[in-house]
Amino acid sequence: MSNLHVSKHPLVAHKLSLLRDTKTEPQKFRELVRELGALLTYEATLDLPTHPIQVNTPMGLAPCEELTEKIGLVPILRAGLGMVEGVWELMPSSEVWHIGLYRDEKTLKPVEYYNKLPVQPTVSVCLILDPMLATGCSAVATIDILKRWGVSNIKFVGLIGAPEGIKRVQDAHPDVPIYLAAVDEKLNEIGYIVPGLGDAGDRQFGTA
Ligand code: URA
Repeated sequence: MSNLHVSKHPLVAHKLSLLRDTKTEPQKFRELVRELGALLTYEATLDLPTHPIQVNTPMGLAPCEELTEKIGLVPILRAGLGMVEGVWELMPSSEVWHIGLYRDEKTLKPVEYYNKLPVQPTVSVCLILDPMLATGCSAVATIDILKRWGVSNIKFVGLIGAPEGIKRVQDAHPDVPIYLAAVDEKLNEIGYIVPGLGDAGDRQFGTA
């Protein structure tokens, strides 16, 4: 499980508790998703390469660093949308590429319904954003899409994972690190994480 990173940060733990609570209303829920997205991305980007630059300060030249790679944020629609703003504030020059997948009710396999990636990759690192790593099928399908696009440096940033989903991603894409706030007990019979937080899309968008 070496590519699985579960945050030990007290702020993450505290905000996740609030997020899970049934009493948390959509406005607060969205705020927490945004903040947790940023906090987890802070941890997930620890190894991004930088190169040296010189910066003019009012007092002289300072040896500094700037990010080398062009970053793509890839929210999986629709629950991943709420994580974008917080991450984008940290890396405002990132590009945002949306991927839409739904689960076919018969095959239970993810079906792509939105993908406007251009033919040539425009970024060299992709952060996939999706709060719930449940079955892992959407995450695996998104990683497949991004690898076919030509990006090899991919990280998954989520909030809560189920052991089943984590295993599915690790088996299919052992090179993709997974960053989460918590790993929960299990999936239930309809693919929800237990205890989880319910439907992350419905709770953000007030559609429960
Ligand atoms: N998607 C959700 O929003 N919640 C879950 O528990 C699983 C998938």
